[in-house]
Amino acid sequence: RMNLKKITTGSSNLDELLGGGVETKTITEFFGEFGSGKSQISHQLSVNVQLPTDQGGLTEGENIAKAVYIDTEGTFRWERIEQMARCAGLDPELAMENIYYMRAVNSDHQMAVVEELFGLVPKENIRLVVVDSVTSHFRAEYPGRENLAVRQQKLNKHLHQLSRLAEIYNVAVVITNQVMAKPDVFYGDPTQAVGGHVLYHAPGVRVQLKKSRGNKRIARMVDAPHLPEGETVFEITECGIRD
Ligand code: GTP
Repeated sequence: RMNLKKITTGSSNLDELLGGGVETKTITEFFGEFGSGKSQISHQLSVNVQLPTDQGGLTEGENIAKAVYIDTEGTFRWERIEQMARCAGLDPELAMENIYYMRAVNSDHQMAVVEELFGLVPKENIRLVVVDSVTSHFRAEYPGRENLAVRQQKLNKHLHQLSRLAEIYNVAVVITNQVMAKPDVFYGDPTQAVGGHVLYHAPGVRVQLKKSRGNKRIARMVDAPHLPEGETVFEITECGIRD
Protein backbone atom coordinates (compact mmCIF):
# COMPACT_ATOMS: atom_id res chain seq x y z
CA ARG A 1 0.00 0.00 0.00
CA MET A 2 2.97 2.26 -0.59
CA ASN A 3 2.69 5.44 -2.68
CA LEU A 4 -1.09 5.29 -2.49
CA LYS A 5 -2.66 8.62 -3.34
CA LYS A 6 -6.24 9.81 -3.02
CA ILE A 7 -8.45 11.97 -5.22
CA THR A 8 -11.21 14.00 -3.60
CA THR A 9 -14.76 13.38 -4.80
CA GLY A 10 -15.76 16.95 -3.93
CA SER A 11 -17.82 15.74 -0.98
CA SER A 12 -16.05 15.39 2.35
CA ASN A 13 -18.74 12.91 3.43
CA LEU A 14 -18.04 10.68 0.46
CA ASP A 15 -14.28 11.14 0.85
CA GLU A 16 -14.55 10.02 4.45
CA LEU A 17 -16.53 6.93 3.44
CA LEU A 18 -13.75 6.13 0.96
CA GLY A 19 -11.05 6.60 3.58
CA GLY A 20 -9.93 9.96 2.19
CA GLY A 21 -10.97 9.78 -1.47
CA VAL A 22 -10.63 7.52 -4.48
CA GLU A 23 -7.38 5.59 -4.22
CA THR A 24 -4.68 5.00 -6.80
CA LYS A 25 -3.57 1.40 -7.44
CA THR A 26 -7.14 0.36 -6.86
CA ILE A 27 -10.33 -0.23 -8.81
CA THR A 28 -13.25 1.65 -7.30
CA GLU A 29 -16.67 0.59 -8.48
CA PHE A 30 -19.69 2.86 -8.19
CA PHE A 31 -22.86 0.90 -8.77
CA GLY A 32 -26.49 1.84 -8.62
CA GLU A 33 -29.60 2.41 -10.61
CA PHE A 34 -30.11 4.95 -13.38
CA GLY A 35 -29.65 8.53 -12.18
CA SER A 36 -27.96 7.53 -8.94
CA GLY A 37 -24.92 9.70 -9.71
CA LYS A 38 -22.35 7.29 -11.16
CA SER A 39 -21.55 9.44 -14.17
CA GLN A 40 -21.62 12.63 -12.13
CA ILE A 41 -18.99 11.26 -9.75
CA SER A 42 -16.95 10.09 -12.73
CA HIS A 43 -17.05 13.54 -14.33
CA GLN A 44 -16.16 15.18 -11.02
CA LEU A 45 -13.15 12.93 -10.42
CA SER A 46 -11.88 13.64 -13.94
CA VAL A 47 -11.80 17.30 -12.98
CA ASN A 48 -10.58 16.87 -9.42
CA VAL A 49 -7.60 14.68 -10.29
CA GLN A 50 -6.18 17.79 -11.98
CA LEU A 51 -6.18 19.82 -8.77
CA PRO A 52 -2.95 20.32 -6.83
CA THR A 53 -2.29 17.74 -4.14
CA ASP A 54 -3.11 20.20 -1.34
CA GLN A 55 -6.61 20.55 -2.83
CA GLY A 56 -7.27 16.86 -3.16
CA GLY A 57 -5.93 16.30 -6.67
CA LEU A 58 -2.76 14.63 -7.94
CA THR A 59 -1.07 17.53 -9.73
CA GLU A 60 2.41 18.11 -8.36
CA GLY A 61 3.86 21.47 -9.33
CA GLU A 62 3.87 21.82 -13.11
CA ASN A 63 3.17 18.14 -13.63
CA ILE A 64 -0.57 18.13 -14.28
CA ALA A 65 -2.39 14.93 -13.42
CA LYS A 66 -4.72 13.95 -16.26
CA ALA A 67 -7.67 11.65 -16.78
CA VAL A 68 -8.89 9.16 -19.33
CA TYR A 69 -12.65 8.81 -19.68
CA ILE A 70 -13.85 5.71 -21.50
CA ASP A 71 -17.48 6.27 -22.40
CA THR A 72 -19.46 3.20 -23.44
CA GLU A 73 -22.94 4.70 -23.63
CA GLY A 74 -22.34 8.18 -25.03
CA THR A 75 -23.36 9.90 -21.81
CA PHE A 76 -20.20 11.97 -21.29
CA ARG A 77 -20.84 15.73 -21.34
CA TRP A 78 -18.10 18.31 -21.93
CA GLU A 79 -20.39 21.11 -20.69
CA ARG A 80 -20.61 19.38 -17.35
CA ILE A 81 -16.80 19.22 -17.16
CA GLU A 82 -16.62 22.90 -18.01
CA GLN A 83 -19.06 23.75 -15.24
CA MET A 84 -17.34 21.58 -12.64
CA ALA A 85 -13.91 22.90 -13.58
CA ARG A 86 -15.01 26.50 -13.25
CA CYS A 87 -16.43 25.78 -9.80
CA ALA A 88 -13.21 24.02 -8.80
CA GLY A 89 -11.17 27.08 -9.79
CA LEU A 90 -9.57 25.46 -12.84
CA ASP A 91 -9.36 26.95 -16.32
CA PRO A 92 -12.24 25.12 -18.05
CA GLU A 93 -10.45 24.94 -21.40
CA LEU A 94 -7.33 23.44 -19.86
CA ALA A 95 -9.38 21.09 -17.73
CA MET A 96 -11.07 19.74 -20.86
CA GLU A 97 -7.74 19.36 -22.64
CA ASN A 98 -6.47 17.25 -19.75
CA ILE A 99 -9.24 14.70 -20.12
CA TYR A 100 -8.67 12.11 -22.84
CA TYR A 101 -12.13 11.14 -24.03
CA MET A 102 -12.49 7.72 -25.60
CA ARG A 103 -15.68 6.22 -26.90
CA ALA A 104 -15.78 2.43 -26.77
CA VAL A 105 -18.24 1.09 -29.34
CA ASN A 106 -18.31 -2.54 -28.22
CA SER A 107 -16.69 -4.80 -25.64
CA ASP A 108 -13.75 -5.82 -27.82
CA HIS A 109 -13.08 -2.17 -28.59
CA GLN A 110 -13.36 -1.35 -24.88
CA MET A 111 -10.68 -3.93 -24.11
CA ALA A 112 -8.46 -2.72 -26.95
CA VAL A 113 -8.74 0.86 -25.70
CA VAL A 114 -7.55 -0.19 -22.25
CA GLU A 115 -4.71 -2.19 -23.77
CA GLU A 116 -3.54 1.00 -25.52
CA LEU A 117 -3.52 2.83 -22.20
CA PHE A 118 -0.43 0.91 -21.13
CA GLY A 119 1.41 3.21 -23.54
CA LEU A 120 -0.51 6.43 -23.00
CA VAL A 121 -0.89 6.48 -19.21
CA PRO A 122 2.79 6.81 -18.26
CA LYS A 123 3.57 9.10 -21.19
CA GLU A 124 0.88 11.67 -20.41
CA ASN A 125 0.86 11.51 -16.60
CA ILE A 126 -2.61 10.05 -16.50
CA ARG A 127 -3.57 9.33 -12.88
CA LEU A 128 -7.25 8.46 -13.30
CA VAL A 129 -8.95 6.08 -15.70
CA VAL A 130 -12.75 6.01 -15.77
CA VAL A 131 -14.80 3.32 -17.47
CA ASP A 132 -18.45 4.42 -17.62
CA SER A 133 -20.04 1.93 -17.70
CA VAL A 134 -17.82 -1.12 -17.46
CA THR A 135 -20.64 -3.62 -17.95
CA SER A 136 -23.01 -2.19 -20.58
CA HIS A 137 -21.40 -3.65 -23.72
CA PHE A 138 -20.76 -7.03 -22.14
CA ARG A 139 -24.32 -7.17 -20.92
CA ALA A 140 -25.71 -6.24 -24.35
CA GLU A 141 -23.48 -8.60 -26.33
CA TYR A 142 -23.72 -11.60 -24.03
CA PRO A 143 -27.23 -11.51 -22.66
CA GLY A 144 -28.94 -14.02 -20.46
CA ARG A 145 -28.05 -17.12 -18.60
CA GLU A 146 -26.81 -19.01 -21.66
CA ASN A 147 -24.01 -16.47 -22.24
CA LEU A 148 -23.10 -16.00 -18.61
CA ALA A 149 -19.89 -18.01 -18.70
CA VAL A 150 -18.45 -16.20 -21.72
CA ARG A 151 -19.55 -12.82 -20.42
CA GLN A 152 -17.93 -13.40 -17.07
CA GLN A 153 -14.76 -14.66 -18.62
CA LYS A 154 -14.46 -11.60 -20.85
CA LEU A 155 -15.38 -9.17 -18.13
CA ASN A 156 -12.92 -10.85 -15.80
CA LYS A 157 -10.15 -10.43 -18.33
CA HIS A 158 -11.09 -6.77 -18.74
CA LEU A 159 -11.08 -6.13 -15.00
CA HIS A 160 -7.76 -7.89 -14.70
CA GLN A 161 -6.35 -5.63 -17.38
CA LEU A 162 -7.65 -2.57 -15.49
CA SER A 163 -6.26 -3.74 -12.18
CA ARG A 164 -2.83 -4.30 -13.74
CA LEU A 165 -2.96 -0.78 -15.18
CA ALA A 166 -3.85 0.60 -11.75
CA GLU A 167 -1.02 -1.18 -10.00
CA ILE A 168 1.74 -0.74 -12.54
CA TYR A 169 1.25 2.99 -13.05
CA ASN A 170 -0.18 3.99 -9.67
CA VAL A 171 -3.39 5.30 -11.21
CA ALA A 172 -6.91 5.31 -9.83
CA VAL A 173 -9.36 3.24 -11.85
CA VAL A 174 -13.03 4.09 -11.45
CA ILE A 175 -15.68 1.88 -13.00
CA THR A 176 -19.43 2.30 -13.01
CA ASN A 177 -21.97 -0.45 -13.12
CA GLN A 178 -25.67 0.09 -13.57
CA VAL A 179 -27.72 -2.30 -11.53
CA MET A 180 -31.37 -2.43 -10.70
CA ALA A 181 -32.71 -1.77 -7.23
CA LYS A 182 -31.78 -4.27 -4.52
CA PRO A 183 -28.41 -5.10 -6.10
CA ASP A 184 -27.49 -7.39 -3.22
CA VAL A 185 -30.10 -9.82 -4.41
CA PHE A 186 -28.66 -9.76 -7.93
CA TYR A 187 -25.09 -10.03 -6.76
CA GLY A 188 -26.02 -13.11 -4.80
CA ASP A 189 -27.35 -14.72 -7.95
CA PRO A 190 -24.86 -14.50 -10.83
CA THR A 191 -27.48 -15.42 -13.42
CA GLN A 192 -29.42 -12.25 -12.56
CA ALA A 193 -26.56 -9.88 -11.88
CA VAL A 194 -25.89 -7.21 -14.46
CA GLY A 195 -22.17 -7.79 -14.41
CA GLY A 196 -22.35 -11.23 -12.91
CA HIS A 197 -20.54 -11.90 -9.67
CA VAL A 198 -17.29 -11.21 -11.49
CA LEU A 199 -17.51 -7.69 -10.13
CA TYR A 200 -17.98 -9.05 -6.68
CA HIS A 201 -14.33 -9.98 -6.37
CA ALA A 202 -12.28 -7.87 -8.75
CA PRO A 203 -12.64 -4.25 -7.59
CA GLY A 204 -10.86 -3.16 -4.47
CA VAL A 205 -13.62 -0.83 -3.33
CA ARG A 206 -17.33 -1.02 -4.10
CA VAL A 207 -19.72 1.81 -3.39
CA GLN A 208 -23.46 1.49 -3.85
CA LEU A 209 -25.31 4.68 -4.79
CA LYS A 210 -28.96 5.23 -4.06
CA LYS A 211 -31.32 8.06 -4.89
CA SER A 212 -32.64 10.07 -2.00
CA ARG A 213 -34.72 13.22 -1.79
CA GLY A 214 -34.09 15.72 -4.61
CA ASN A 215 -30.41 16.00 -5.43
CA LYS A 216 -29.35 14.04 -2.39
CA ARG A 217 -27.78 10.64 -2.83
CA ILE A 218 -26.82 7.91 -0.40
CA ALA A 219 -23.48 6.14 -0.75
CA ARG A 220 -22.83 2.85 0.97
CA MET A 221 -19.48 1.11 1.29
CA VAL A 222 -19.81 -2.55 0.40
CA ASP A 223 -17.43 -5.20 1.70
CA ALA A 224 -14.21 -3.20 1.34
CA PRO A 225 -11.24 -5.15 2.72
CA HIS A 226 -9.58 -2.21 4.48
CA LEU A 227 -12.48 0.22 5.01
CA PRO A 228 -15.31 0.13 7.51
CA GLU A 229 -18.80 -0.46 6.15
CA GLY A 230 -21.01 2.58 6.41
CA GLU A 231 -23.35 4.99 4.72
CA THR A 232 -23.22 8.66 3.97
CA VAL A 233 -25.13 11.37 2.12
CA PHE A 234 -23.88 13.66 -0.62
CA GLU A 235 -25.48 16.03 -3.09
CA ILE A 236 -25.34 16.62 -6.85
CA THR A 237 -25.27 20.40 -7.25
CA GLU A 238 -24.77 22.78 -10.18
CA CYS A 239 -21.09 22.77 -9.27
CA GLY A 240 -20.92 19.01 -9.01
CA ILE A 241 -20.51 16.56 -6.14
CA ARG A 242 -20.72 18.23 -2.73
CA ASP A 243 -21.79 17.44 0.85
P1 GTP B 1 -26.38 7.00 -15.47
O1 GTP B 1 -26.45 5.70 -14.77
O2 GTP B 1 -25.56 6.96 -16.72
O3 GTP B 1 -27.71 7.63 -15.66
O4 GTP B 1 -25.50 7.97 -14.60
P2 GTP B 1 -25.79 8.61 -13.23
O5 GTP B 1 -26.21 7.59 -12.25
O6 GTP B 1 -24.58 9.37 -12.88
O7 GTP B 1 -26.92 9.64 -13.51
P3 GTP B 1 -26.78 10.97 -14.33
O8 GTP B 1 -25.41 11.24 -14.75
O9 GTP B 1 -27.84 10.92 -15.37
O10 GTP B 1 -27.11 12.10 -13.29
C1 GTP B 1 -27.71 11.85 -12.08
C2 GTP B 1 -28.34 13.10 -11.58
O11 GTP B 1 -27.37 14.14 -11.52
C3 GTP B 1 -29.44 13.69 -12.40
O12 GTP B 1 -30.65 13.06 -12.17
C4 GTP B 1 -29.46 15.12 -11.89
O13 GTP B 1 -30.19 15.17 -10.67
C5 GTP B 1 -28.01 15.37 -11.59
N1 GTP B 1 -27.37 16.17 -12.62
C6 GTP B 1 -26.88 15.77 -13.81
N2 GTP B 1 -26.39 16.80 -14.50
C7 GTP B 1 -26.57 17.89 -13.74
C8 GTP B 1 -26.28 19.28 -13.89
O14 GTP B 1 -25.76 19.73 -14.90
N3 GTP B 1 -26.62 20.10 -12.86
C9 GTP B 1 -27.21 19.62 -11.72
N4 GTP B 1 -27.52 20.47 -10.74
N5 GTP B 1 -27.50 18.34 -11.55
C10 GTP B 1 -27.20 17.48 -12.54
